[in-house]
Order: sequence, then structure tokens, then C-alpha cells
Amino acid sequence: MQKNIVILGTQWGDEGKGKIVDYLSQNSSYVVRYHGGHNAGHTLVVENKKIVLHIIPSGLLHPNVIGIISNGVVISISELVKEIEMLKKHNFFIKKRLFISHSASLILPFHITMDIVREKKLGVNSIGTTGRGIGPAYEDKVARRSLRVGDLKDENKLSIKLKNIVDYYNNQLVSIYQHASFNYKIILKDLLKFKNIINDMIVDTTMMLHKAIQNKKSIIFEGAQGSLLDIDHGTYPYVTSSNSTIGGVITGTGVGPKNLDYILGVTKVYSTRVGNGPFPTELFNNIDEYLSKKGNEFGSTTGRKRRTGWLDGVALRYSIQLNSLSALCITKLDVLDNLKEIKICTAYQDINTLEIYTNVSFVNLENIKPIYETYPGWMQNTSGIKKIEDLPKAAKNYIKSIEKIAGIPVDMISTGPDRNDTILVRNLFV
Ligand code: GDP
Ligand code: IMO
Ligand code: MG
Repeated sequence: MQKNIVILGTQWGDEGKGKIVDYLSQNSSYVVRYHGGHNAGHTLVVENKKIVLHIIPSGLLHPNVIGIISNGVVISISELVKEIEMLKKHNFFIKKRLFISHSASLILPFHITMDIVREKKLGVNSIGTTGRGIGPAYEDKVARRSLRVGDLKDENKLSIKLKNIVDYYNNQLVSIYQHASFNYKIILKDLLKFKNIINDMIVDTTMMLHKAIQNKKSIIFEGAQGSLLDIDHGTYPYVTSSNSTIGGVITGTGVGPKNLDYILGVTKVYSTRVGNGPFPTELFNNIDEYLSKKGNEFGSTTGRKRRTGWLDGVALRYSIQLNSLSALCITKLDVLDNLKEIKICTAYQDINTLEIYTNVSFVNLENIKPIYETYPGWMQNTSGIKKIEDLPKAAKNYIKSIEKIAGIPVDMISTGPDRNDTILVRNLFV
């Protein structure tokens, strides 16, 4: 049995992490969201019901799983409460099984406004954020002025801290962005209302996780975004504001690296990116149209069309290195079913010097073009296949090629959005 599993994205997000977390959580005691905020959109399809989670850990649809939102996450309490209510409507009752770190920083309405007005001002140079206030909330955390979940417990201190931070934001919003100012009393009233709903969930999640580890409970750590959106290792500045690579698990939970037994990189068999920034294998032709439509590549959070491209083996190898991945889970194999030919980028070429690179850092992607290998498609339906032996020969060969390019095994394959459309190549549960 693999005890503690990290599941994270190797690309630019939306690899299908939520589905895989949900699938693997059936054999786990805890599921932890450790970074990011409600910029994430994780889609689960269970018994024909589609559920999109932004902040609640994806394993909680299983009734015995305990969910944790740990210190590394930036939390909008109003969004959290909304999501708890949404799950209730679908008959998933999670309130007593969800715990929130007292040291997680809060996302408040002025963070969201600041995110949006800044993006507007940047115009064509905008990052293309999700507009969820993620950047400003993490800025406050690093600047040591955040309101944290634990601050909700003391109304007097909360009121003083909130007034100070609202003043700080109002100064900028009014003078730089000509935006209306916020009234801290209104925000305070809302916070106190939400506090009553979540009060019992606020705990020291680090201690809770240490105890779970001592008691030999299995834990799944659920990554958000993707490795190439990492604040340090991604395509800066077109990145998110947290560490979506493996370090985020450690700082975002207080669990040390020796307690991470298996690190699974979720990789979509083609690439997508929402928002701006470099994308070496991006397609602008009928294959883009095909992938968008067949893969339903529209953002789970903002509904924006995702840019699409071929699988990028250079980027994949970079992610494998960054995260010390144990294995890959490849997703959306079925989306390639009707393609006669499938390409994978295996190297980049410098367009000026013509030099070929097979390993590059994603910090500088200027003046490169992708070099592709072409594989025959299988032109057969793979949707919903649950056993590797039932896959067409060409699909099996294609997966072997990914393993060769990656240098690590493919332990799982996803063949559809439903929880059960999954092939376990290696039994992770024995
Ligand atoms: P996440 O952010 O990594 O959790 O991924 P998203 O949920 O944003 O996007 C993945 C999309 O692909 C969702 O609509 C999923 O329902 C869907 N999906 C996941 N795995 C598969 C698969 O193997 N095949 C197909 N066709 N769709 C999938
Ligand atoms: P999941 O967990 C895809 C992208 C945004 C933008 C950049 C910065 O569903 O994979 P932010 O709002 O974080 O400041 O935006 O990061 N982005 C995502 N793209 N999937 C996500 O999450 C994303 N979360 C943020 O589109 O380019
Ligand atoms: Mg998503």
C-alpha cells in the first residue's frame, strides 16, 4: 500500500488532478489541499453527476474521508461556505469532516478587486489571472500583514487588523486605480457571519497531520494548478503566486519530505494553458479546434477557452525533475481517439543557432521552436476502458513512448471524465 501520495499537475493546470484525487481517495483517510485558492477548478464526475470543486479537497465525496485545507492555501471564506452548500444540495455532507488551518491566509473582497483592476491596467501585458485575488492575498502573506483564519476567533483584534488592511488597500484603489473604497465594517459583518458557520472547522492542521502520520493513516496531498505555473519554477511572470511544485506540499502543510511515499504527476496527453504566457507546442489549426471540442477545453473556474497544443516532452521531463516524480498518471487518452497522427515534442531548437536542446529550464523560452516525433493514432474508441489489455495496440505503443520520453513509468491512465473510467496499470493499493 502506498501510504502518503502527492498528486500534482505536470503542465499548466487542468490535467485532470481532481478526478484522480477522487479516484485514489477511496483508499485513503485524509485528503489535503495545500496551496493555491479558489483559482483551482477540479471536476469530478460520479454517478452521472458533475461536481466542480474550487477550494474543498476532491476526496470528500467518499463518506469516510477527512478533508484538510492547510496553512499554504489562501481561503475565501465566502467561497468555502458556498461550496459546502453546493455539496449539501448534491447530498454530500462534509461539514464535520472538513478542517481548516488557523494559519491559512484569507482572501478578502479587496484582494479580488485589486487583482481585477491591476489586470485591467496591464492591458495586453496582463497575466490572464482567474481574478480570484490570489496574487494580492499571497503578497499580504509574505508582507506579514495577512488576516489569517485564526484571527476570526478574536473579534476585537480582527476588527483592528481588518481596518488597517482595508486602509492600506483603499489608498491604492482610490489613488492609483480610481476605484471606490471598501468599508471595513461591511467586510467585518460578513466575516463574523461566516465565522459562525466554520468556527468548529478551525484547527492546527499541522498537528492534525502529524498525528495522522503517527497513527499510520494514509494521506493524499492534492495539488492545484500545474508545475509550469509555479511562482519559482514556472514561466514567470505568467504564473500563479504559490509553489505548485513539490515544495508547496512541505511548506504548505508542515509535513516533511520523508513522509511523502509516492509522488504522482498527472499529465494530460496533450497540453493546455489558460491565460497568457509562453506555450511552445501551442496549436492554432484544426487540431486545436478538435482538442478544444473533444476535450471540452473550457476553464472549470472562469469558462475561458483553454489554449491547446501537443504534449511537450521537454516540459514533462522538467516537471519530473522538479518534483522527483515516482510515476505518471496520463489523462484524456480518449480525446486522441479520432486523430490519424499524434505528435509529441521531444526537443527544442534554438531558431537562431539551430542548436537542439532536450532539457531546458522553463525560465527562458525565447527563440525556441519545438521538434516533434509523430506516432500513428489508433482511430478507435477508448472511452471508458478499464483494463490496459483492452486498449488498441497503437494506444499501448503511444503510452510506451511517453514512458520512454519521461524515463518513469505510467502507473495510471484515465480514459474518460467519470471516476470509473480509469486504468490502474500498477496496483497502488497493495
Ligand atoms: P484539474 O484542474 O486538473 O482537476 O482538471 P479540470 O477538472 O479543470 O479539467 C479536466 C477536465 O477533463 C474536466 O472536465 C474533467 O471532467 C475532464 N477529464 C478528466 N479526465 C478525463 C479523461 O480521461 N477523459 C476525458 N474525456 N475527460 C477527462
Ligand atoms: P487547476 O487547479 C489552469 C492560471 C491563470 C493564469 C495564472 C495566474 O484547476 O489546475 P491566478 O488567478 O492564479 O493569479 O492566475 O494561473 N491558473 C490556472 N490555470 N488551472 C488552474 O487551476 C489555474 N489556476 C491559475 O489562468 O494564467
Ligand atoms: Mg482545473
